[in-house]
Amino acid sequence: MKPGKFISLEGVDGAGKSTHLDYLAGKIRARGVELVVTREPGGTPLGEKLRALLLNDPMQPDTELLLMYAARAEHVAAVIKPALTRGAWVLSDRFADASYAYQCGGRSIDATRLESLESWTLSGFKPDLTLLFDVSAEVAEARRAQARAADRFEKEQADFFNRVREAYLHRAKSEPGRIRVVDASHSIESIRAELDQIMEAL
Ligand code: TYD
Repeated sequence: MKPGKFISLEGVDGAGKSTHLDYLAGKIRARGVELVVTREPGGTPLGEKLRALLLNDPMQPDTELLLMYAARAEHVAAVIKPALTRGAWVLSDRFADASYAYQCGGRSIDATRLESLESWTLSGFKPDLTLLFDVSAEVAEARRAQARAADRFEKEQADFFNRVREAYLHRAKSEPGRIRVVDASHSIESIRAELDQIMEAL
């Protein structure tokens, strides 16, 4: 058993996950435990180089999926598992559910391809808790419009984000014990209150 806890944050671009990540990080640190805050794609020097390619360079959907998993394999082995083993908590801005949502949902890649990569690189390793910040594609788009310049994913159309959202919700339905759906259309204050409850229970 790993002594630390691994929490991932998910949602379509514009759901507000970064805002809530900062809040959660503060709450976890207040417990006096070591916390590693990380992100995907990225989280390692190699992973950050792959992230730059993934977010900017045109590529085939299969290439995109493979690079996501290359970055993830490195991230799990070099950062996440060592942190959990020494008792630290890990808070990751996205993890494997994002590949299911974006590459299988958004890009329509057959889920069996993802499953074989998952069993190869992760061997059943999963977050202890995944918070899925769920919001409609329209609300997410309006929020993104106020933010910085769009990357390769953020330039996609509404039907792409509808598919991403549906895939996330489908995944949450199949693993309700691990994935908690948080209605991200609510106010920041009421979402924080919900997060407080979830963290108490953890
Ligand atoms: P994101 O967390 O949105 O970064 P930022 O807030 O800095 O824009 O992640 C970058 C993008 O990567 C996001 O659009 C979703 C995409 N992504 C995938 O398509 N598949 C994956 O497996 C992961 C981890 C991310």
